[in-house]
Amino acid sequence: MNPTDNPDLELFLTREQIQQRVTEMGADISRDFAGQTIVLVGVLKGAAIFLADLARAITVDCTFDFVAVSSYGKSNRSSGAVRLLKDLDHPIENRNVILVEDILDTGLTLGYLRDNLLLQKPSALKIATFLDKPSRRLQAITADYVGFSMPDKFVIGYGMDYSERYRNLPDVCFLPPEAEE
Ligand code: PRP
Repeated sequence: MNPTDNPDLELFLTREQIQQRVTEMGADISRDFAGQTIVLVGVLKGAAIFLADLARAITVDCTFDFVAVSSYGKSNRSSGAVRLLKDLDHPIENRNVILVEDILDTGLTLGYLRDNLLLQKPSALKIATFLDKPSRRLQAITADYVGFSMPDKFVIGYGMDYSERYRNLPDVCFLPPEAEE
């Protein structure tokens, strides 16, 4: 899918920009964890594509796990009601864990997951997010690795959806409100 084919979509990040930044993030993580092993924990579904690229930019030993949380929609999420739908497959005690997200918005999802995973006593717990919308934060969460900071606009592509569509778009685009069906 080429975003220029859809006049409603405004290009935000090209696949080349994404590739360059994700490669840098992988290098940062590889440097910080040199000689160690890592568990990458992806938050389904939006983080799947970012995790796949980030993992291939990491040169230290790593394994994958995935969690899924309930999504009541953004309006209800502000109540703070986040629920775990799929737990980790493997224990993370004494492991170096990196939570991998596509977007850090209110911080409620990552706040919940961070607290939940810390109970399992990992030796380190870091957060890598592809996008960060700091102006939307309701819970104090800071990511250790951030791809791009962005304004409060609706984004799609590179794993991120609008009603489950557009996740396969290789570039990241803004979806203007008037284009939402
Ligand atoms: C998105 C994103 C994060 C969450 C961030 O998930 O993947 O998990 O929202 O928002 P928050 O900081 O306000 O909690 P979404 O609910 O869209 O599900 P998806 O990953 O399946 O697309």
